[in-house]
This record gives sequence, structure tokens and C-alpha cells, in this order.
Amino acid sequence: MRSEIQRFQSLDELSVTSAEYICQIAQQAVAEHGHFTMALSGGNTPRTLYELLAQEPYIHTIPWSETHLFWGDERAVPVEHPDSNAAMVSQALIKHIPIPLHNVYRIPTEGNTPEEAAAHYESLLHEMLPVFASSPHIPGIPVFDLILLGLGKDGHTASLFPDSPVLNESSRWVSATPVPSMQPPVRRITLTFPVLNAAKVVLFLVSGQEKHEIVNTIIEHPDQARSLYPAAHVRPEGILRWFIV
Ligand code: 6PG
Repeated sequence: MRSEIQRFQSLDELSVTSAEYICQIAQQAVAEHGHFTMALSGGNTPRTLYELLAQEPYIHTIPWSETHLFWGDERAVPVEHPDSNAAMVSQALIKHIPIPLHNVYRIPTEGNTPEEAAAHYESLLHEMLPVFASSPHIPGIPVFDLILLGLGKDGHTASLFPDSPVLNESSRWVSATPVPSMQPPVRRITLTFPVLNAAKVVLFLVSGQEKHEIVNTIIEHPDQARSLYPAAHVRPEGILRWFIV
């Protein structure tokens, strides 16, 4: 794993650098294996980035026809609900870009229990394996070209919360979670560590002064951090980058 940290003065600056980086990874992935697979994060921090990606130059420089969009996690609410991560990304990005809609793979919350939604999403990942880069280390696991993640004030990432039984999941790729102690108080569906850690690149987008100490602990004292913060368990085979403001 190669790990890098970059600090920014503003969310706009962080978002522009993220957009540039995503564009570069997308073009490289398409040149190497014909597709670009990205898992998107929820929360507030990436919204500005998503809005930027829907504008010039990215609307024309990202190879949207070869891009396949997934979600790292979702709240168990219907897709039109204000707390839906899919709705947020749809409004900020998807409805403005020339991506074929069959390349957008939402976590199917409506009409399913969180367990059913997780099982459907895992089956979908199995079906979509041909679009993923292949792992030299763990045959058969989906290797995302890029996974975007956020960091919560309690050290959670995706929907992997402190003390959750899902933190120990080693075989399932997608799991339902209990209701976390953070807002909104609804169950979630999340990618698990085996998938996060198989990615080529994981990019954390972190905003908020109160999270800086958590990031410092994860970077400077990784062993101690692993017992405190789920995000410290993200150690991808490829590159781990932290963009912080
Ligand atoms: C979610 C997430 C979650 C989020 C962090 C950070 O669905 O809530 O995907 O892991 O990324 O809570 O959120 P903020 O960017 O809003 O601080």
C-alpha cells in the first residue's frame, strides 16, 4: 500500500484536485482495461466534487460511456428520499452527464429489506466482474479502479461504524448494518473491507476540523487507530490517498 495525505485551504480546492485526479484515473483505467469503475461516497463532503464533475471540462474529459458507477454505501430509504445517497449523487451529477443509465448501479433499497438489498448488490457485483480490473492477489474479487470514501466524526467510513459486527466480515462483499448511532437513524447497506481493500485507489475526502485528529492518529499510530476507528482498516492493495480540509 502507498499512502499519501494532502491538506487543502478550502472545500473548493479539495474538490478541484479530486476532480483532476478522478479524470486522470478514469482515462488511465480505460486505456488499460477498457472500463473505469468507481464507487461513490455519500455524506456532504463530496457534493461539490460531484457538481464539478458535471461541468466543463470534466463533462467532456471523463470517458462517461466507459464509466461504471457504484455506491460504497446506502441508507435503507427509498431512492427519492432526501437521505438517499443515490438521490444526492443523481441530483449533483448523474442527471447532468452523458453516462448510459445502464452503467449506473444503485443499491436497490426499495421493496427490499437491507439484507435483501445487500444480497442483490453482491450478486450484481458478481455479474459485473468482467468490467472490473482483475486482482493479482485475490482472484474473483471486484477490483474498483477508484473508491471514494468519507470519514465520520466517530471514525466510521462507508457504513462501517465502530463496534459494528460488519467490521469483521471477511467473505461477503456487501452487508446490511444495524442502525448506527449517527444521523440519519436508519439501517444501511455497505461494501465490506475485503472489497474496499482490493481497490486500486481509495480516496478519502474529509472535511471538518474535528476529524483532523482522527486522520493524524490513523496515519501516525495505525495499530492504536485500528481499535478505535473503522476507517483505519482501509488499507488497499493499491494507493490510499487522504484529501483533507
Ligand atoms: C454516508 C456515508 C458516510 C459519510 C461520512 C462522512 O452515507 O453517510 O457514506 O460514510 O461519507 O459520514 O460524511 P460527511 O462528508 O457528510 O462528513
